[in-house]
Amino acid sequence: MAPRRYAIAGLGSRAELFVRALAEHAELAAFCDRNRTRMAVHNDWLTGATGRAPVPCYPAEDFTAMLGKERIDVVVVCTPDHTHAGLIADALGAGCDVITEKPMAVDAVGCRRILEAQRRTGGRGTVGFNYRYNPLHRQVRDLLADRAVGDVGSVHFEWLLDTQHGADYFRRWHRDKGASGGLLVHKASHHFDLVNWWLGSRPETVFAMGRLFFYGEDNGARHGLRREYERATGESAADGDPFALDLGFSPRLNALYRDAEQEDHYLRDLNVFGPGITIEDDMTVLARYEGGPQLSYHLVAYSPWEGYRVAFTGSEGRLELAVRTNDHARPATPGEVPVSLPPGTDDEAGDRARLTLQRHWAPPETIFDGPLGAGHGGGDERMLAELLEEGQREADHLAGMWSLAVGLAANRSIATGEAIDVRALVTELGMPS
Ligand SMILES: NC(=O)c1ccc[n+]([C@@H]2O[C@H](COP(=O)([O-])OP(=O)(O)OC[C@H]3O[C@@H](n4cnc5c(N)ncnc54)[C@H](O)[C@@H]3O)[C@@H](O)[C@H]2O)c1
Repeated sequence: MAPRRYAIAGLGSRAELFVRALAEHAELAAFCDRNRTRMAVHNDWLTGATGRAPVPCYPAEDFTAMLGKERIDVVVVCTPDHTHAGLIADALGAGCDVITEKPMAVDAVGCRRILEAQRRTGGRGTVGFNYRYNPLHRQVRDLLADRAVGDVGSVHFEWLLDTQHGADYFRRWHRDKGASGGLLVHKASHHFDLVNWWLGSRPETVFAMGRLFFYGEDNGARHGLRREYERATGESAADGDPFALDLGFSPRLNALYRDAEQEDHYLRDLNVFGPGITIEDDMTVLARYEGGPQLSYHLVAYSPWEGYRVAFTGSEGRLELAVRTNDHARPATPGEVPVSLPPGTDDEAGDRARLTLQRHWAPPETIFDGPLGAGHGGGDERMLAELLEEGQREADHLAGMWSLAVGLAANRSIATGEAIDVRALVTELGMPS
């Protein structure tokens, strides 16, 4: 059988992971982006690293034409979130399979479009939920499935984004709720997918509160953090501001974003205390799952350190996972960094984790205590290996829908002040009855 031909849509920072893997292990046949400079930068990196010929590049409006002309079998979608649904539906409609970055879509209309296209064509949709591939996350799932804590009654989940990584969502398109769905969709889709998967259950009811507390013009002024500049690079007003990201600090960020600005005016380094932010930075969600487990979830994007804690309390005990990505956030400084992270973010160094099981009437048992691998606990690499094989996939379009359902229900609850019936919502999302 001829090797399957892949195209990548969206050649920004996340695409780097897929370009490398597909160039080495598969038939990487085409790039598609609305920005020619960014496609050229990826081609330069690729040809420089591998010596292979550049990949043909297509503008965004030629996406469907590219699929036919290049005989594409699989499309990898790495564009901003609000564009995912259209690209996925068009790719499925053209007979391709799709691997999409999370979140699968940012609203009910987009999700419905994808599910209808999938039903019509029978194409395969896979969502890149790389957190599922973290070995400790798998161990949690296995322990819960083996009833290590009996019936799970409660899940308490706190996720902290620090003032470097968390701030990065407020420097570019993610700050616009229409583009990212807000962090309950953009970021928490990972976390809700994990809870759905860990519990092997589905959300029934969601209630949420959320607000912009820290970032934004008014909050920055109120907390004495705001400086007067629109974007950081080349601005003396941004000098010494720990929240500023100077693209000149990283040759890779500079090539991928600053040198590409003249084409689409995409600014990667906006002032996080500037105007125009429509997403929340502090979100609380309560959810009830089928069969009874109750979830309390909290996401903040302005913590001094980064990491997360999740605890499952059941009829026979409690399982706790605590992960620290760093002990404090550091301001960006000049130096080469992976483009996927702003300078000052040390996720690449790997996490430190502790997993503890405590049965009723017994002392705690430490199951794991030590460092995890880089790249989401080695999850990125394991996910890539699975995506390049034609076997069973971890997360399909329905898993994408169920994680989205919690985030969209939470957004709706924030907007209305009411608890949301997720079973009614998923029919809007196109869930087959
Ligand atoms: N799973 C993870 O851990 C993880 C990490 C980072 C990013 N992501 C996801 O990857 C995606 C991309 O994020 P990023 O940080 O690389 O963003 P980015 O802004 O760096 O790159 C997006 C690229 O898409 C291009 N683009 C915009 N509209 C397009 C269109 N209609 N057609 C084709 N190209 C278009 C842009 O020009 C840009 O090159 C997002 O969905 C994000 O959620 C996932």
